[in-house]
Order: sequence, then structure tokens, then C-alpha cells
Amino acid sequence: MTGTEQDELIDRISADSLTTRRDYLRIVATVSGGLVVGSTVVSAGVLHRHGDGTAPPLKVAEHLPKGQAVTFNYPGEHDRAMAIRLTDGSVVGYSTVCTHLACGVLWRKERGAEGELYCPCHEGVFSARTGEVTAGPPPRPLPRVVMVEDDQGAVWAIGTARSGESERAGLCRGLEESNPVLAERAGCAAEGAS
Ligand code: FES
Repeated sequence: MTGTEQDELIDRISADSLTTRRDYLRIVATVSGGLVVGSTVVSAGVLHRHGDGTAPPLKVAEHLPKGQAVTFNYPGEHDRAMAIRLTDGSVVGYSTVCTHLACGVLWRKERGAEGELYCPCHEGVFSARTGEVTAGPPPRPLPRVVMVEDDQGAVWAIGTARSGESERAGLCRGLEESNPVLAERAGCAAEGAS
């Protein structure tokens, strides 16, 4: 999923709830503050998915400089994950549980043009930009964690995708499980996102 596609999906979700994208991110921040959120599409659809273990949005960094990574746990407290700001400024997120035998994947900033994700157990290597396997025995890409930035520059995790699934498909799957009507309005089925 490109940043543009992700923005479009979020914009469409926001439009459906009669809010702007800025409002959406403000809602996210409000949730983080522990306050009760009103009856919004966002809270029903993206923030609380049922059945697939996803969690409310999590702020993972107030500021993430280019070429830097931050680790966190998402969607569950034992689900290890990492967000990276690539050299072009985009932010990507992944589970750091290796798809080979579940060792912890590490960030190697100095490797290649934009760094790489490295598993020391059996020399597995994943692309920092896509999560695809570029070397070693891992059989599948790293599952993605969907990241967004708010207008203060803070970085949030807002959802997950399965290994090989696009961020858009992961967001839509969550919507389809928790709010099929919204998923349809957001164009998930029409665009074959799942
Ligand atoms: S557990 Fe990661 S390469 Fe084997």
C-alpha cells in the first residue's frame, strides 16, 4: 500500500464519519489520552476490531528522524514490532517476529541505501521498505503494522496486516470484521483490497 492509497482510505473513512482527516487523528490522540470517544465511525471501525487481536492506536514516537527505528509492542503487549522512518521520509512498520522460527528481527541502519531488517538466528534479511525476504530462510515477508503520523509529527500504530497482505487489505479486513457497512462505504470490496 502506498502512502497515497493509505491516505485515501483513511480520508474515505473519515469522510464517512463526517470528520476530516485532521479530526480523525485528533480522535486517535484522544483515545490515547484515555478519554471516551463518541460514536464515530473511526472508533467503531479502525480503533476497535473484534476477532483478530488488534488494539486501539498506539503512539510509538513523538518524533522519528529519518533513518531511525523505534521498537514497541502492538497489537498485543507481547507482539514485538518496529517502526522505521526511511530516507525518503515515509514511515513503515513491521512485526519483528521472524517468519522463519520466530527469532527477534533487528534494524541494521547502515546496510544498503535505506537499511535492512536482519534476523541473527539464521541470517534472514528483509527489505526495510516492503518487508519482503531478501536473503536467508524466512518463507514469508514480515507482517506489516500500519503506521500514520499526526499533525504534530508523532507516529502511531493503527492496525496490522498479515504476512504478504497489504496495509490496505489489513485495514479493510479489520473493518469488514467489525463494521461491514463501513467497509463497503470505504470501498474495500469494490477495490478488491482483501
Ligand atoms: S528465525 Fe529468523 S532466520 Fe531463522
